[in-house]
Amino acid sequence: MKVLKSLLSPLIFLVFFLNFLLVFFTPSYDYHLIHIHSDSGFTVSSIKGNHVPQRHEFPSNNIVPEWIKFGHGMKNKTSLDKIEEGLARTRSVIQKTIRSKKYATPIKDSFVPKASIYWNPHAFHQSHVEMMKRFKVWVYEEGEQPLVHDGPVNNKYAIEGQFIDEMDMGSKSPFKATHPQQAHLFLLPFSVSKVIHYIYKPRRSKSDYEPDRLQRLVEDYIHIVANKYPYWNRSKGADHFLVSCHDWGPRVSYANRDLFKHFIRVLCNANTSEGFEPNRDVSIPEVYLPVGKLGPANTAQHPNNRPILAFFAGGAHGNIRKKLLKRWKDKDKNVQVHEYLPEGQDYTKLMGLSKFCLCPSGHEVASPRVVEAIYAGCVPVIISHNYSLPFTDVLNWSHFSLEIAVDKIPQIKIILQSVSKDKYMELYYNVKRVQRHFVINRPAKPFDLIHMILHSLWLRRLNFQLIAS
Ligand SMILES: *[C@@H]1O[C@H](CO)[C@@H](O)[C@H](O)[C@H]1NC(C)=O
Ligand SMILES: *[C@@H]1O[C@H](CO)[C@@H](O)[C@H](O)[C@H]1NC(C)=O
Ligand SMILES: *[C@@H]1O[C@H](CO)[C@@H](O)[C@H](O)[C@H]1NC(C)=O
Ligand SMILES: *[C@@H]1O[C@H](CO)[C@@H](O)[C@H](O)[C@H]1NC(C)=O
Ligand SMILES: *[C@@H]1O[C@H](CO)[C@@H](O)[C@H](O)[C@H]1NC(C)=O
Repeated sequence: MKVLKSLLSPLIFLVFFLNFLLVFFTPSYDYHLIHIHSDSGFTVSSIKGNHVPQRHEFPSNNIVPEWIKFGHGMKNKTSLDKIEEGLARTRSVIQKTIRSKKYATPIKDSFVPKASIYWNPHAFHQSHVEMMKRFKVWVYEEGEQPLVHDGPVNNKYAIEGQFIDEMDMGSKSPFKATHPQQAHLFLLPFSVSKVIHYIYKPRRSKSDYEPDRLQRLVEDYIHIVANKYPYWNRSKGADHFLVSCHDWGPRVSYANRDLFKHFIRVLCNANTSEGFEPNRDVSIPEVYLPVGKLGPANTAQHPNNRPILAFFAGGAHGNIRKKLLKRWKDKDKNVQVHEYLPEGQDYTKLMGLSKFCLCPSGHEVASPRVVEAIYAGCVPVIISHNYSLPFTDVLNWSHFSLEIAVDKIPQIKIILQSVSKDKYMELYYNVKRVQRHFVINRPAKPFDLIHMILHSLWLRRLNFQLIAS
């Protein structure tokens, strides 16, 4: 066993197609291969306590680890070879589409993306079609609820639980691998929100907020699956991911950057100055879901019936909102900025009556307002620092939103009034077009929000190759 194990690390390494994400932005493409040499493998400091109990024993006789095959010098194709062949075919199909500018055969009963809101609608459509055909995610079965295999399905972290629920236990998702050997990616079904909720109690002193408990739990989990199966080690975690909408999501990887060096973090809190890496991590929208609902009531009005120029209501969280409220709070009936909504006023209805909805960052960069604005047909105005917007591999946000720099907050009214009627109508219709990508369906449907998250992951997996040398 020892000999085989030591064979493993030099055998497999990662090849990055750095430009593959850029394929979506540019008409031509170019592969620059970067070899990440896996000299000695990673070292992980030993972790004590918080052992994650195991829920299901994996039927280990079903596993034929790749390294055994390599170890015996067999010429049979490994499951990894097959996966990589499929990915190579997909890359070449997408590149052909980019050159020919032709649409793939549409997915049954689905739409074909054609608007200017996409960097490259042909490439996006083709890669979505390919994703529907092939993409498989293995969800590790270890661990027990509520920390693992669970997540909030309501309120502002809802997307975390909705995604885990869509993909996890008992799920009939077509993207769910039935065996890890089929998988392109591996989900650690941890819910950061649930960990914070259950483990961080009681909270009496500052030390009760230290992230190390969260970090230990996740690292422990990785140790368990890395010891039990060959998948973490063969890629050094590059084909593994975790989905978190909680503000603390990014902290999971802070204590052990080596362990998480290639790991994909799927985060609402996509703050580049907190270490979010747009090429590797995935930014997902924060969506506020009322209990028992998958979205707010539709209150969107026609553009002719939107008397309010700009709207915001929310607490004075963080510097950006403080600036906004200081300058605009309850001062202008066209730029309606409220800390507390006046009695009897309905938040969603007001968004539906506004042309522009201000979406300043609060305690974290993301805000559920962006999606609420899109649902309400209100053009989102992003006011933030270092926010890596969701789905930017596919969507050109400048076609359906505006960005106003924080230091231009005093000029909001002038800036928005100077948007011509034509420009506004174009933005408005593009907001309507992009809505389908922010809608949550359970089960998920092609091109909806959950599929967009999966597609972002699919793109990242297309962006590297795991090879045996
Ligand atoms: C390939 O795999 C099959 C079944 O797993 C086995 O019977 C066969 O001997 C293998 N071939 C080689 C060349 O190793
Ligand atoms: C993966 O690597 C770790 C650390 O080097 C090692 O302890 C573990 O046994 C390896 N897992 C497998 C399945 O070989
Ligand atoms: C974050 O935003 C600030 C202000 O806009 C900018 O100066 C800084 O370079 C940004 N940092 C990163 C990592 O993008
Ligand atoms: C983004 O991260 C930086 C660095 O940690 C932090 O100073 C800033 O407040 C964060 N932005 C928001 C809106 O939380
Ligand atoms: C994105 O949209 C903006 C205008 O809305 C345009 O100037 C820019 O060229 C677009 N980018 C690409 C690559 O299509």
